[in-house]
Amino acid sequence: MVSSGSAERTLVLIKPDAVRRRLVSEILGRFERKGLGIDAMVLRRIDARLADLHYAEHVAKPFYPALRDFVTSGPLVALVLSGSGAVGLVRGLVGATDGRLAAPGTIRGDLASSSRENLVHASDSVDTARREIALWFPELADPGTEPA
Ligand code: TYD
Ligand code: MG
Repeated sequence: MVSSGSAERTLVLIKPDAVRRRLVSEILGRFERKGLGIDAMVLRRIDARLADLHYAEHVAKPFYPALRDFVTSGPLVALVLSGSGAVGLVRGLVGATDGRLAAPGTIRGDLASSSRENLVHASDSVDTARREIALWFPELADPGTEPA
């Protein structure tokens, strides 16, 4: 278990490019070796409706149509990771959005070379994690969380 911060859950997607490139175990292994727990995990292909809900903050942006095509292009692995300070910890392991700019040692820095096909999604705050977990794994949602 990680030693600082409070117990948190975060929503992670191992995106279709990672599944196609056979990088699921590489990516999952980095999270596991860091000491994060897996609370839920599923392989699924999503439709445009779920993509739009998941990326609600981005739907009106110019890059979104291509992003939606990408995230719906094949199966992805959705999971909930848990541990002390899990939200920030996972964002750190994932690295900066653009794989060409992400630091070596991060998942994107080591394995991605695109701004769109960047292998992983991770919740960006505790509040976002709560919303995203309710969307992807309603059976894990905190009581009182609004359904999508
Ligand atoms: P964003 O939430 O800004 O990044 P992150 O995944 O690091 O939280 O954007 C969501 C996804 O949208 C990002 O992972 C890749 C894609 N994207 C683009 O395709 N082009 C862009 O210019 C940006 C900013 C993001
Ligand atoms: Mg984001």
